[in-house]
Amino acid sequence: MCGILGILSSQSVAEKLLPEKLLEGLSRLEYRGYDSAGIATVHDAQIDRRRAAGKLKNLKALVNDNPLKGTIGIGHTRWATHGAANITNAHPHSSPDVAVVHNGIIENFSVLKQSLQAKGVTFESETDTEVVVHLITDFLKNKLSPLHAVQQTLQQLQGAFALVILFRDYPNLMIATRRGSPLVVGCHQDELFVASDALALVGWARQLCYLDEGDVAVLEKTETGLSTHLYNSDARPVERTWRPSQLSAAAVTKADYSHFMLKEIFEQPAVLSDSIQSLIGAEGTTIDLPDLKLDPGLIAQVFIIACGTSYYAGLVAKYWFEKYFQVPTQVEIASEFRYRQPCLDKKALYLFLSQSGETIDTLAALSLVKQNNCKTLAIVNVPESSIARQSDQVFHTLAGPEIGVASTKAFTAQLVNLLGLGLYLKGDHNQGLCQELRLLPRLVSEVLNDQSTYQHVSLKLAHAQHALYLGRGLQYPIALEGALKLKELSYIHAEGYAAGELKHGPIALIDGQMPVVVLAPYDEWFEKTLSNMQEVLARNAQVIILTDEIGAEHVHRQVTNKSTLEMIILPKVASFTSPFVYTVAVQLLAYYAALHKGTDIDQPRNLAKSVTVE
Ligand code: F6R
Repeated sequence: MCGILGILSSQSVAEKLLPEKLLEGLSRLEYRGYDSAGIATVHDAQIDRRRAAGKLKNLKALVNDNPLKGTIGIGHTRWATHGAANITNAHPHSSPDVAVVHNGIIENFSVLKQSLQAKGVTFESETDTEVVVHLITDFLKNKLSPLHAVQQTLQQLQGAFALVILFRDYPNLMIATRRGSPLVVGCHQDELFVASDALALVGWARQLCYLDEGDVAVLEKTETGLSTHLYNSDARPVERTWRPSQLSAAAVTKADYSHFMLKEIFEQPAVLSDSIQSLIGAEGTTIDLPDLKLDPGLIAQVFIIACGTSYYAGLVAKYWFEKYFQVPTQVEIASEFRYRQPCLDKKALYLFLSQSGETIDTLAALSLVKQNNCKTLAIVNVPESSIARQSDQVFHTLAGPEIGVASTKAFTAQLVNLLGLGLYLKGDHNQGLCQELRLLPRLVSEVLNDQSTYQHVSLKLAHAQHALYLGRGLQYPIALEGALKLKELSYIHAEGYAAGELKHGPIALIDGQMPVVVLAPYDEWFEKTLSNMQEVLARNAQVIILTDEIGAEHVHRQVTNKSTLEMIILPKVASFTSPFVYTVAVQLLAYYAALHKGTDIDQPRNLAKSVTVE
C-alpha cells in the first residue's frame, strides 16, 4: 500500500540531487501499489512540494519541468483510502509550516477535523492525513517545540499509522513516528533516511534501525554532523538496535527478466533448495527445527490464520496436517476470525501466515489471540515485520524480497515451512519424505524449462471472460490459488472449485466458451477428477488439464472427445509434494495469459503488496 521515504543529507551539493534520490527511492516502493505520489523539501525558508496523480512517471515529469531543491525531503506513494486518487489528496500534505507523509489510517480524523474547523482551520483535501498537519501546526503556533508538537498530536490520534514530518522553520530537522505501521531509520556517512520499507534504502543505508511501536525518531543535522535520537511512546529517550542492512541490490532489479514476477517464478528452485536445506541439510534425511520451542505433545490442534494467497497455503497445510500427521487443523480467513469472537483454545497453536508480515487483519487477529494468552507462531517472509515482532515465535521463510505484487516464491516458501512444521508436530523423521523434498528444486526447474507450452496454452485463457479451476485433495487449494493468480494478473474472472462441488452448482456455467483448468496429477484422486473433467468436456468446455505422463496415458485411453482439450504434462511427483509443482504451472499460466492481454503484471490495478488497512 502507501510508501514513505525521507532523506536528510549533510551535503549542500546534494540540493538538486536530493529530489532525484527521493524519486528513485519512491520507484523502489512502487511495487507496494499506489495511485498518486508526491515529494516535498524545505528550501529557502519554504516548504516546496510537487504532487501528481497516477504513476510515478507523472511526478517525475512534473519535477523535471519544475525542479525543486533541498537537502532535506520526504516522499510518498499513496494508495487511496480517504478521498479519490487525485493531486489534492496526494501526499505530502502541508500547511506553510509543516509537511507530512502518512501511511495507515487516522480512525478519529472526522472528530478532529470538526474541532479544527470550529477553530477556523480550512481543509484542502478529503484525507484523514490533513488533520495531522493542522494539529502539529496549531501546537507550533502555541510555541511548542517540533518534538513536543508531534508528541502532543500523537496523543490525539487513534488508528494505525506511520508519519514523517518536515518543518519550515527547522530546515535541518525531520521527525518520524509509528504506531501499527512499520518504519525503519537508516544511516550512511552523509545521510540519514527513514522509510516504510527497507527495500527503498538498498545500497544507500548501511545500518538500519527498526522503530518500535509508538517510537518517535528525531533526525537532525547540527554543526557537529547528523544525529538520530529516539523516544518511546512515553516520550522517554530510548536506544534501539542498529543492524547492518542484509538486502542486496539484486533484490530490487529485474535482471534480464521482463517482469519481477517472472524473475521470482524462476527463483523458486533456488528458494526451495535453500528452504529445504535449512530444514534437512544438504545430505540430511531428517527434519531439524532447532529454533522452534514448542512441545508437540501439548498441542491439541492448530489454527492457521491468514489472508489471500497465504490463506491458500494454510489450506494446503490442513490437508498435510490432518491426512499425513493426524494434527487437527482449522484454517481461518483473518478478517472473519477476528470479528466472530472465536472460542480460543489454550491447548491450540495459533499459526499466523503472512508474506509481508504487515497485513492488518492478520496482525489484529494475532493481537486478539495474544490478549487471550494463547500460543502464537508466525511464518513470515519479512524478518522485521510487525507480525514477526509481535508473535511468540517466528519461523522465517527464505524467499528473499518479493517485488511482484502477486505472490509466487513466497507462497512456495510458505509451503516448505508448513510441511516442516507438520513433521515437527508429528515428531516424524520421515526419510522418504526428505528424499521427495530434495527432488523438488529439480522438478520445478523442469516445469520452468517448458515456457513455450505455457505461452501457447494460456491463449485459451487470455481470450476468455471467465475461467474455472478444478482440483481435489491437495490440488483443491492450488485450484483456488491458480484462479486467484489469473484474476489478479489478467483481470479475468476466475474461480477455483473442489472438483466434487462441480455438480452442486458451477456446472451451470459451462458452455463452449468456458475454459476449465483441471489439476490432476496421477494420484488417489485422479480417477474422480477425470470423471469431473469428462462432465465439462461433454458440455464443450475449453479444458486445460495439468497432469503427469501416467495421467496423460489414462486421458488418451479414457477420453474420446478431445477436440476442446489441451494437455500440459508435468513431471511425476509424489502426491504429498505435488502442490509445489502444480503451483508453478498455474503461476506460469496466469503470467502468460496476462502477458497476452498486456496488463500491468508487476503492479496489477487496485492491488497493494502489503494490505495495511482493513
Ligand atoms: C496474492 C497475494 C495476496 C496476499 C494477501 C495477504 O497474490 O499476494 O492475496 O497473500 O494480501 O498478504 P500477506 O501474505 O502479506 O499477509
